[in-house]
Amino acid sequence: MASLRARLGWRRGSRARSRHANPARAAGLAGGSRASEQGVSGYKIELVTERAAVERWSAALDALAVAIAAFEIVPGGAWRIEAYALEPPDENAVRAALRTAAEAARVALPGFHVQPLPPVDWLAENRRSFPAQALGRFFIHGSHHDGRVPAGRIGLRLDAATAFGSGEHATTRGCLDALARLAKRTRVRRPLDLGCGSGILALAIAKLWRTRVRAADIDPEAVRVTRDNAALNGVAPLVRAARSDGYRARLVRAGRPYDVIVSNILAQPLARFAPALRRHLARGGTAILSGLLVAQEPPVIAAQRRQGLALTRVSRRDGWSTLEFRRRRARPADPI
Ligand SMILES: C[S@@+](CC[C@H](N)C(=O)[O-])C[C@H]1O[C@@H](n2cnc3c(N)ncnc32)[C@H](O)[C@@H]1O
Repeated sequence: MASLRARLGWRRGSRARSRHANPARAAGLAGGSRASEQGVSGYKIELVTERAAVERWSAALDALAVAIAAFEIVPGGAWRIEAYALEPPDENAVRAALRTAAEAARVALPGFHVQPLPPVDWLAENRRSFPAQALGRFFIHGSHHDGRVPAGRIGLRLDAATAFGSGEHATTRGCLDALARLAKRTRVRRPLDLGCGSGILALAIAKLWRTRVRAADIDPEAVRVTRDNAALNGVAPLVRAARSDGYRARLVRAGRPYDVIVSNILAQPLARFAPALRRHLARGGTAILSGLLVAQEPPVIAAQRRQGLALTRVSRRDGWSTLEFRRRRARPADPI
């Protein structure tokens, strides 16, 4: 079951969607289970809560589900948690897991309900929820797309999968825009994509500059998906992917100094990794950081500035921020 586990994101906004085209699909709810024998595609445990409690109940349901997604259903108000399972969930086990979390937090046990998911034509569903999209220089499409890539655009072929990065999220878009802008003025030779997810940014780099790119993610599933997507896009020889917590892996350390590091992770690791970022970024190199909310900009910016990196651009989209930094070039007296 572990290999089917999809770690889904949270979405704000009342029309919130999971970061996957379909979270149930991402979790592998597509057959071969008791669900498919019974003519359903899986089961959903659903509960409504407030924002502050999303993490608590999601964590409580984690062991019982192959995928969990949370959606803001009322702006600034209620959130809905959906936990997907392949087998009919044992309601007593669900209640017990929630009760343990409720007792630990000294709050009331939340209500929940379990429902079977109707059988789904996944191909049609995938087409509907993951339509081809033009995104600046890029044209992102699934394998189902039978049309051509429009002239002048770079095609990125991605299917809904168990790793983040379908191109729909504002942070991914912010990074793609930043890379496309960089391509207008710079020739990149040693790039790194840290927190590669589906590999979308590594693919974009490989195709923009026809250059080798290193990609790393703490999640082995993301590494697998990145390699698959590199092959799907005909750039397997250009993309090397490895599991890495931050900059720790050999593949990541051996590739430095990088002239571009793109890292769409989260605010806290971005701030924590600032010293390692500086050590891995070449002088004159560019860092593109995303995965943070606008309100989280100050600590992330301050951490990079403490390392001597200069903020060169801030782009905001849907409340998310993409930051660009530059490591200044060496002056004659500077140590390497
Ligand atoms: C928001 S996704 C970005 C995916 C893709 N690069 C994109 O832009 O759409 C963040 C990714 O960072 C990875 N990640 C989180 N913490 C990490 C860490 N400490 N080291 C490496 N990767 C990490 C997650 O597993 C996830 O795949």
